[in-house]
Amino acid sequence: MNYRHAFHAGNHADVLKHVLLLALLEALKRKDAPFFVLDTHAGRGRYLLGASESRKTAEADGGIVRLFDAARLPTPVEDYLRAVQADNPVGALVAYPGSPLLAAQAMRAQDRLAACELQTEEAAELKALFAHDPRVAVHARDGYAAMRALLPPRIGETRFARGLVLIDPPYEAQDAEYPQILGALREGLQRWPNATYAVWYPIKQRRSLQPFFRKAAALPAKAALVAELQIRPDESPLRLNGSGMLMINPPWQFDTAIAPVLPALQATLGEEGASTRLEWLRREP
Ligand SMILES: C[S@@+](CC[C@H](N)C(=O)[O-])C[C@H]1O[C@@H](n2cnc3c(N)ncnc32)[C@H](O)[C@@H]1O
Repeated sequence: MNYRHAFHAGNHADVLKHVLLLALLEALKRKDAPFFVLDTHAGRGRYLLGASESRKTAEADGGIVRLFDAARLPTPVEDYLRAVQADNPVGALVAYPGSPLLAAQAMRAQDRLAACELQTEEAAELKALFAHDPRVAVHARDGYAAMRALLPPRIGETRFARGLVLIDPPYEAQDAEYPQILGALREGLQRWPNATYAVWYPIKQRRSLQPFFRKAAALPAKAALVAELQIRPDESPLRLNGSGMLMINPPWQFDTAIAPVLPALQATLGEEGASTRLEWLRREP
């Protein structure tokens, strides 16, 4: 596997993914009962934006760097910026928090996070990051296998009725990734039906995603919602023109909560021909 998230941390796709991640966690925090988060593809947890990998692609410049000083943003985007600022206390944007760090920062004392990362060095960094946080367990293992092993979540006497599974793979071999995701979702829903499942996906050419959406809509779940941000038209199969999040069993009225997010991100991060989409693939009455 060649993928290293350090080349992409803080780009437009991370912005969309992490705004939605925090909004999903915010909804879980409405109740006091503990929740469990499984981050199947966690990365190293924290990325230095001045590091050579990040500077080489400059992807963060079209993402968090552009958004960092923007004003008058919708609440979920403001919440996300506050979370990024918490990792940059001096005020300048030095580091970018990955999904496990954002989740851990948002969680309360009673909540738990299991973060999986397959690459040895990335997993070692992640373990070091959370060495002193007893709420977080880092697993150097395959995230899909972890869904089978860890769900439904139970730690000691605590059974977690509520929670979130974030699936954020590198899509190095797209043909293999989508069937794996759908299989893991099917099994996850069987084991832990009440959880929310959030799957990030890249958009190069949107029409190639249709089979995935059709199969996702047929999963045995109450609802499936997609939120997408395309920062430019999807005419090139070679570039990351946008991305989306498929959310299975999202929280009550989540579409309303995040509706203002997409146009605000489009206005701040989009180029000519940018667009957004917020659509139910499936919704039981
Ligand atoms: C897109 S990055 C994750 C970024 C992270 N979720 C975030 O938002 O900050 C994907 C990560 O998954 C790891 N990975 C690839 N295949 C995996 C697998 N089968 N199980 C667990 N991790 C895997 C890669 O090493 C990489 O660090």
